[in-house]
Amino acid sequence: MFHKEIQRRPNQTSQNQPSQNSPAPAKSDIPKSDISKFSGASQIRHPKIRNLKILFPTFAAMKILMVCLGNICRSPLAEGILQDKAAKAGLRWSIESAGTNGFHIGEAPHRLSQKVALQHGIDISRQRARLFVTADFDSYDKIYAMAEEVVDEMKWIAKNKFNPGKVDLLMNELYPGKNKDVPDPWYGPEPGYHEVYDMIDAACDKIIEKAAAKK
Ligand code: 4NP
Repeated sequence: MFHKEIQRRPNQTSQNQPSQNSPAPAKSDIPKSDISKFSGASQIRHPKIRNLKILFPTFAAMKILMVCLGNICRSPLAEGILQDKAAKAGLRWSIESAGTNGFHIGEAPHRLSQKVALQHGIDISRQRARLFVTADFDSYDKIYAMAEEVVDEMKWIAKNKFNPGKVDLLMNELYPGKNKDVPDPWYGPEPGYHEVYDMIDAACDKIIEKAAAKK
């Protein structure tokens, strides 16, 4: 019954045809084996059913937060770089960033972070700095800190709600267990921003590589 309704062309009418105003069928008789997962959304593979994908909400399979101190130099780069790589890899991830100090809330990324990102084809100009909050532990699956002092700040902010299972240093993706920092380029000249870009880029490549291996 449900199958037949779905087969109708859009301009065909039927009293029983599903529409925005009529409730969706309560139960599908589609075998579970015909439902495949792709990048977090559900898709039906059935010889008689096409385009059913639109009936299923798409959702982010992973929510990732990049955190530094000011949220204007390193973590905006990490947000932009991983977003770019995830999109290119076909991963429907949600990636955002935050800072542990409130000095730059609402500001766009530092002009040198923007410049270096743009040289690699990534526009981060629309990002705005926001403060890291304890509730981020509920909102994100994984939280990457750019440096150990950032982890210390996160602990201070979240107190007993700090969840070590969700937090890691970004560079541990590339050098597991080495606890290497992404250096803070804030006080320095442009070459520091290029160095930081390259470090973050390599770590994000590793994240995508691991995700691709799990697919
Ligand atoms: P970020 O760099 O943590 O990579 O955004 C900094 C930017 C600003 C400050 C510190 C670090 N600040 O103290 O204002």
